[in-house]
Amino acid sequence: MPMKTVTADITELRVDAIVNAANPSLLGGGGVDGAIHRAAGPALLAACRALPESAPGVRCPTGEVRITPGFALPARYVIHTVGPVWHGGGHDEALLLERCYRHSLQRLREHGLRTIAFPAISCGVYGYPPAQAATVAIAALRDELGDDLGGIEVTLCCFSDAMREVFQHALDHSG
Ligand code: APR
Repeated sequence: MPMKTVTADITELRVDAIVNAANPSLLGGGGVDGAIHRAAGPALLAACRALPESAPGVRCPTGEVRITPGFALPARYVIHTVGPVWHGGGHDEALLLERCYRHSLQRLREHGLRTIAFPAISCGVYGYPPAQAATVAIAALRDELGDDLGGIEVTLCCFSDAMREVFQHALDHSG
């Protein structure tokens, strides 16, 4: 089963890479971003601060990814991505969210890694409606994984059973 949902704290997962739902500065924040930085320790912030800015205050534009070690986390790496802020659906939110998932898998492969866990990107502070986000996420992951699977294992790590039910429903009905 190359893709599954769990209810868990992503900072506790022992996988090759966990994905962080960050903001463009990559200097930490609340939600899962805050949890990952707390668990990884100050070395993570130092590694993020060392990443080049593509614009003032921007180290990772929306939809793109940056990778760092996991430091004190059980995960070997953190793939930081920035999801879209929900503005009603007419501002390329779905396209940008899709890119977060696709680019994370592409970066995983580039590093020869095999197991990855995603939080519900943009479904918290950024206000993306979870059912719509789940549909976009799973379609992107299925398309990117393709038939070869390449042995890649994807965990959709939700922070509540309610959110897990949303992602599991989307997984069960994704054709
Ligand atoms: N493990 C797994 N999931 C978590 C955890 C955790 N430890 N903590 C929170 N979550 C869940 C939230 O419940 C939500 O479903 O992650 C999902 C994403 O919510 P946010 O963390 O708010 O991320 P997002 O909506 O993408 O907003 C990103 O919030 O923290 C700031 O710096 C971050 O500005 C950025 C914005």
